[in-house]
Amino acid sequence: MDANDPKSVLIKLEALVREADEAFTRAATADEVEKARIYYLGLKHGRIEEIEAFFKSLPNEAKRGFGKPFNEAKLALKNAHEAAIIRVQPEVQAAASSSFSLTGSASVAFDFSLPGIRPRLGRRHPLTQTAGELIDIFGRFGFTLATGPEVEDEWHNFEALNIPPAHPARDPADNFYLDAKTLLRSQTSTVQIRVMEKQPPPVRVVAIGRVYRPDEIDDTHHCMFHQIEGLYVDKKVTLADLKTVLRLFAASYLGRDVHIRFRPSFFPFTEPSVEVDMSWDLRGGKWIELGGAGMVDPNVFRAVGYDPEIYSGFAFGLGIERMCMRRHGIKNIRMFHENDVRFLEQF
Ligand code: PHE
Repeated sequence: MDANDPKSVLIKLEALVREADEAFTRAATADEVEKARIYYLGLKHGRIEEIEAFFKSLPNEAKRGFGKPFNEAKLALKNAHEAAIIRVQPEVQAAASSSFSLTGSASVAFDFSLPGIRPRLGRRHPLTQTAGELIDIFGRFGFTLATGPEVEDEWHNFEALNIPPAHPARDPADNFYLDAKTLLRSQTSTVQIRVMEKQPPPVRVVAIGRVYRPDEIDDTHHCMFHQIEGLYVDKKVTLADLKTVLRLFAASYLGRDVHIRFRPSFFPFTEPSVEVDMSWDLRGGKWIELGGAGMVDPNVFRAVGYDPEIYSGFAFGLGIERMCMRRHGIKNIRMFHENDVRFLEQF
C-alpha cells in the first residue's frame, strides 16, 4: 500500500468489503463462518487489521480522509459476519427451506433456487383399495352398489333374515346392542332386506361395509371388520349361477384360474346354505375359506313381499380383511387399524 496514493487504499478497502461479503454469504456452516471471520476480522493478521495497521503507521495529516471509509468498511464486514451467523443456524435453515417466511433479519439470504420439500402424499387405506377392486369386479358382472346403515334395528339384522328371537345369534352377549331394539349390524345381510324392501325383482347388488361382533381380538379376528354381500334375485336363479359368479369373481381378484368348493352349512336366511372355499393348482389341494352363501330362503322373500313361487336368488357374504390379507401376505388383522404409516404406505 502506498501512503501517497490514498485512492489505491480506498479501492483496496472496497474490494475487501466485496470479497468478505461473498465469503460470508458462501459460508454454509458455523465453522465456515468462523473461518471467514478469522480471515477477515481476526485481531491478529485479519485482512481488515492489516489495513488498520497500515493507517496507524501513517503521519497524522495523511490519515485524514481515511477514517470514515475505514470505519464503514469494518462495519460492513461485521454486519456480513452477523448475518452469516444467523443464517447458518439450523432452525433458520429449516424455516428458510420449509416455508417462504423470511426470518426477522432482512439480511438473511433465501435461495429460491433450492429444491422444495416434497409434501408427503397420502394414499387409500388397503381395505378401501380392496373394496374398490371388488366393487369394480362385481360391477363388470352387472352388480350395482347398495348401502345400509351400521346402526340397525332387529328387523333388518335378524327378524326379516329368518332369525327368530330365540336364535343364539341374537344373544346380547354376541352383539353390540345400543338399546333393547338397536344394535351395530353383525352382518351386511341387513342390506339384502333393505334393498328388497325398496325395489321389486330382479335384483343384482353388492354391499360393502363394516360389521361388528364382540369377538376376542387375535391375529385374524377383530370386533369390527368388513364384508361384501352379494344378492341376485330373478326368475330361475340356481346354485350353479352362484358358483359361476363366485368362481369368476375369485379368478378376477386373484388374476388366476381358481377352483370353488361348496361345503354344506347353515344360515337361517339361505336354503340350502354353503361355506365357500377356493383353491388353485399351485396350492397343492389346500383350500382357503372365502365366506358363506346360499339360495335365499323363501321366508326372507315373504318378509320383503317377494313371491318365492316366482322368484329365486342367491346371496353370499365374504370377509374383506381376509381377502386383502391373503393377497398381500398380511399376517395380523390389527395392522389395518393401528394407523401406522410404515404399514399403510406399502400399499
Ligand atoms: N351373513 C353371513 C355371515 O356373516 C354370510 C352369508 C351371507 C351367508 C349371505 C349366506 C348368505 O356369516
